[in-house]
Amino acid sequence: MSKPKVYATRHIPEAGLDIIREVADLEVWDQFTPPPYEVIKEKSAGCEGILSLLTDRVDGELMDACPKLRVIANYAVGFDNIDIEAATKRGILVTNTPEVLTETTADFAFTLLMAVARRVEEGIRYVEAGKWVTWGPELLMGRDIHHATLGLVGLGRIGAGMAKRAKGFSMRVLYYDAVRRRDLESLLDLEYADLDTVLAEADFVSLHVPLLPSTHHLMNADRFKQMKKTAVLINTSRGPVVDTEALREALENGEIMAAGLDVTEPEPLPADHPLVRMDNCLVVPHIASASVQTRTRMATLAAENLVAGLLGKEPPTPVNAEVLPKDA
Ligand code: DGY
Repeated sequence: MSKPKVYATRHIPEAGLDIIREVADLEVWDQFTPPPYEVIKEKSAGCEGILSLLTDRVDGELMDACPKLRVIANYAVGFDNIDIEAATKRGILVTNTPEVLTETTADFAFTLLMAVARRVEEGIRYVEAGKWVTWGPELLMGRDIHHATLGLVGLGRIGAGMAKRAKGFSMRVLYYDAVRRRDLESLLDLEYADLDTVLAEADFVSLHVPLLPSTHHLMNADRFKQMKKTAVLINTSRGPVVDTEALREALENGEIMAAGLDVTEPEPLPADHPLVRMDNCLVVPHIASASVQTRTRMATLAAENLVAGLLGKEPPTPVNAEVLPKDA
C-alpha cells in the first residue's frame, strides 16, 4: 500500500522528520527561507498532511487546493498563521506544539528583560566601538530588576513561567488577562489588575497574549503613554500585538525607556529599520524557543501529531479537536 504524502514547509530537527518518514512519503522544502504561498499550494496538492511553520499562511484557498488534506501540524504553539475556522469547516485537523516550549520561552523572555534593563547590548556596542577607556560611575546605568514590578499582559503558560522567574528576583507581579486565574494568583503570589493599572504600575511590561483580532496592536500610542517613562516593554508573543510605529515614537520621545523584541511587525525587521538602530531597543530574530532540546521536542511533537492525524488516532495536542472522529 502506498504511503500518504506529506509536505513539510521547512527542514526541522531530524528526529521529527524520522517519525513522519516511518508512515509517510515526505517531501521537505530544502531552503532556509520559507516556500512562497503558491509553492506550498502546488507541493501540497496531493498531500494528506502538511507540516507548517508560523511563517506559512495556510488559508481556505490553500486547503481547497489540497483535496486529500486531512491534517496540518503546525511547528509552533501559536497558530495565527492558519485559518482554523476554514480547516474545521473542511474537517481538517490542525495541531500545534504547546507545553514543550513553555519554560524555554519564559527563560528567554526573562533574558530579554534582564538584557534590556541592564543595557547589555549597548555595553557590547560600547566596547566594540573602542569607547571603554575607564570605569565610569555613571556609565550605562540601567534599571534594577529585583524588587521591581513586572506587569504581565496575558497569563497563559508562558506568562505564568515568567511570573515564576520574577518571583526568584523578589519582584511584585501584576497581571492582566481576559480570564482571571485565581488559582495561579495564590500559587505564585500574583495580583490581578485591569490593563490600565498594569501598564501604569509596571516597571517591566511583558506581553504573553496570542495574536487575535482583539490583541492586534493592543500596544498602541495611547497604551505607551500610560506606561512609566522608565518602563521597559518585552514582546515574545507575536509582532502585530505591538504597533511598531507607535513603539518607535514612544522610544524616541522617551515615553518609555526601552524595549526588547523577539517578535516584530513586519517580521523579519529589515536591518536598516529604526528600531534595529536604536540604542534603547534590542531586537532578536524570533528565537525565544530556540534551544536544541526544545526545537527538537517541538519537532517530535509536531510529527507525533501529524502521524496520529494520518492514522486517524487522537493527536497529543489538537487545536480543533471537534473534527476528530468520536472514537479516535
Ligand atoms: C511559537 O511556537 O508560537 C513561537 O513563536 C516559536 O516557537
